[in-house]
Amino acid sequence: MAKYQIAWMPGDGIGVDVMDAARIVLDKLRLDAEYAHADIGWEFWCKEGDALPQRTIDLLKNTTCALFGAITSKPKDEAERELIPELRGQGRSYRSPIVRLRQMFDLYSNLRPCKAYPGNPLNYRDDVDLVVFRENTEGLYAGVEFRPVPDEVRAMLLKHNPAMGRFKDVPAGDLAITARIITRKGASRIVRSAFDYAQGHGYKAVTLVEKPNVLRETSGLMVDAAREVAGDYPDLQLWDTNIDAQVMWLLKNPKDYGVLVTSNMFGDILSDLCAQLVGGLGFASSGNLGEEYAVFEPTHGSAPKYARQYKVNPMAMLLTAKLMLDWLGESDKAEALEKAIAGVVKDGKVRTYDMGGKNTTIEVAQAVADRL
Ligand code: NAI
Ligand code: MG
Repeated sequence: MAKYQIAWMPGDGIGVDVMDAARIVLDKLRLDAEYAHADIGWEFWCKEGDALPQRTIDLLKNTTCALFGAITSKPKDEAERELIPELRGQGRSYRSPIVRLRQMFDLYSNLRPCKAYPGNPLNYRDDVDLVVFRENTEGLYAGVEFRPVPDEVRAMLLKHNPAMGRFKDVPAGDLAITARIITRKGASRIVRSAFDYAQGHGYKAVTLVEKPNVLRETSGLMVDAAREVAGDYPDLQLWDTNIDAQVMWLLKNPKDYGVLVTSNMFGDILSDLCAQLVGGLGFASSGNLGEEYAVFEPTHGSAPKYARQYKVNPMAMLLTAKLMLDWLGESDKAEALEKAIAGVVKDGKVRTYDMGGKNTTIEVAQAVADRL
């Protein structure tokens, strides 16, 4: 048996294209792994009414970690329409399989490194090197939402919070509520991941990005938890900033920041901004990390218009494979892969369309593999 069992989940659209690219470099690196294909994505929603079939969950439980391409998600009405006729009208509701995986496997830490590789014409600046830690299981993505809002829910909110008074007469169908749920445990462990990373990689500070002046309770709890955790890291500073100001500062002085940590929704937005500073979706890698398990995925989606054309940039996926190698403890292979990626970027001869080139996804992966 190989040292690692890796769940292989291409998913939808360009997920397939970029996973083919990843395999080229992993094979060249001779990673001692077996890859087990797992079904996930829109096709399985349409055919089976479940984008994340139980057999996939069972398969994941018997693997070391998973590598994932992308999935397609569509709004409620379209999701219902695209089901096979026998599954329609049963009140099935589509929930993003990746969000479900994060919650099911308690992959609470979403690691999103955003590092500029010199020579990339898409870099905002060549000196950006940021790492975003996004809480991955709670916050606005906890899934506690109402539309229409049940009368009891509204009555309870009215009873306990005068701010609800302004909405007391809005018709039930015209009111939607999403709960932003933050727990002390959730807040503490994401901040701790960021501090551990900062300590292990020689940073001097961790920046907590929230909005406690307005979101007094939820962001307030993040700040409290962060101050407590920071006490365990006397050599590191805790900076705390507001999300709105922080996005301006990141554009103005990206070099002033290193490790950033935030809640789920802010992290989703912040990490896309940081990704754009270093080349956009074609360069944005991520890891969903728990205590025992991890799912690695590029940040981009399934880009349906490019599906199976092998045109998109595989670098995000290759950098994602690098994160997986780091997590597996294969530091030499991770370092070699990053160096090869940086080399291809710097050389500038093999590039996909987004970088102004004409090469295919596979040609870029091959150019990286040739340097290994
Ligand atoms: P997207 O990320 O799929 O694509 C947006 C645009 O970005 C593409 O049309 C393309 O121009 C560019 N792009 C994306 N990846 C690229 C790459 N590797 N190289 C070069 N250019 C690239 O986002 P979009 O169009 O908003 O969503 C498409 C589908 O993907 C939707 O169904 C959405 O729900 C889903 N999605 C899934 C995600 C996931 O699997 N985690 C994340 C984001 C979106
Ligand atoms: Mg996103």
